Amino acid sequence: MGQAFWVLKTGPKKLVSFETSRNRRGEFDKTRKEVDMSYRLSRDVIDMGRHLMNVRTGELYEVDECGRALLSTLAEGKNCPEGDIFDFMRTEGLLVDPSERKDRDKFLLQLHVLNSCNLRCRHCYDWKNPVVTLTFEQELVVIDNFAAFLKKMEMDGEISFTGGETFLYDRLPELIDYAKSQDVFINPYVLTNGTIPPTTKLLECLVRHHVGMQVSIDGTETIHDEIRGAGNYRKAVTGIEKFLAAGLKVSVHYVIMRRNAKVIPEFIEAVEDLGVKRVNFSCLVTIGPGAQEEMLTPAENRDVIENIAFLQKGRLISLLSTRPLWHTVGSSGFCPVGYNTLTIDASGQFLPCRRLPIPLGDARHDTFFRVWFGSEFLQRMREREKYVGVCGTCPQASVCGGCRALAYAVTGDAFAPDPSCLLVCKM
Ligand SMILES: C[S@@+](CC[C@H](N)C(=O)[O-])C[C@H]1O[C@@H](n2cnc3c(N)ncnc32)[C@H](O)[C@@H]1O
Ligand code: SF4
Ligand code: SF4
Repeated sequence: MGQAFWVLKTGPKKLVSFETSRNRRGEFDKTRKEVDMSYRLSRDVIDMGRHLMNVRTGELYEVDECGRALLSTLAEGKNCPEGDIFDFMRTEGLLVDPSERKDRDKFLLQLHVLNSCNLRCRHCYDWKNPVVTLTFEQELVVIDNFAAFLKKMEMDGEISFTGGETFLYDRLPELIDYAKSQDVFINPYVLTNGTIPPTTKLLECLVRHHVGMQVSIDGTETIHDEIRGAGNYRKAVTGIEKFLAAGLKVSVHYVIMRRNAKVIPEFIEAVEDLGVKRVNFSCLVTIGPGAQEEMLTPAENRDVIENIAFLQKGRLISLLSTRPLWHTVGSSGFCPVGYNTLTIDASGQFLPCRRLPIPLGDARHDTFFRVWFGSEFLQRMREREKYVGVCGTCPQASVCGGCRALAYAVTGDAFAPDPSCLLVCKM
């Protein structure tokens, strides 16, 4: 008897039924079965009970009981699916051959190459205090050090080059070239405000290495310019158009705050029209004066997340964030801090995350190994059941854990309950 496996894919909603006891031609294919036995569920897939999330693509899948039975036998290395379900899961990156490079775990480094900036955004933690940055030669050593770490860890890497305004750094192309010349796989990303046109040299470098671009837009034109300065929305849009025309992948980053929460629907339509495929929404981390009044209440925060999930329906653009609390709308919500990420800020300090300013070491003389395995803070971060209060006892802790940066910014304790969660404020 055929086994039904229902997959509900967000974005374009798609309900597909598969027969798993036969292959595509309706036959039992012995050769294929032998090969298929080595396939297993990708490490990018987070199982959230009723849903699977592919954190690499941001896609969400709803799985019925038969599908669940299939997944549990698959997890034990048995009963690899065949036919259409096999093809579907391979195409979606849910099922992988362990020998494939793309299945290797990934370690994310956020490297701040400077903190100076051409803008003065109201909410920003970065431009206020000038710092002594790493020299270019020190940055090369950091990349060597990161590559050595990845090799020993048998992981692929991702470096997000950021600032300050990253495009102000004239040696960015050389840095990206250097990262790509390492004999370990490193995927580069560049975070920018989009207002500074790239030089020909930089654009060629971005295209050559298929660099993923993240451009900040924080509202409609009026609101964005209120936050980021007059004329900067148009400039950022021109930047996005230029990157897309060059064939680069562009995502947009939107920091949710009181002054821009209501214009999210108009913003989504505008970036959709531009041809952007993904928006990363994140919460404001209340660092610095004035930030507190921009913070939403937990109930408002929940409404915004639910509204975005509603706006996702029937749209191709990917809107569901993978940050804490987003599990409530079926996304992953799993924060990688302490698990597979480190930040080096513009002054060369290792941090768990740029928004969590707890120094873990100095990139001028500390290695990734020493920081990653030697930090008691990171060790504690990994033990979610020991978090203080509700986040420690919450049944959702393994898929959420709360935003540690926000907890630290508001209470001074990085292990305190996330103040933006409704469960926390009910206690
Ligand atoms: C520091 S900027 C650097 C890259 C570039 N200058 C830009 O604006 O995208 C990286 C991202 O951090 C966000 N950011 C700055 N301050 C923040 C805060 N207090 N809370 C949350 N995100 C913040 C910015 O909005 C931006 O999307
Ligand atoms: S452009 Fe980026 S780095 Fe500059 S002030 Fe704005 S958010 Fe901060
Ligand atoms: S209590 Fe903490 S772990 Fe639970 S849902 Fe809220 S923020 Fe997430």
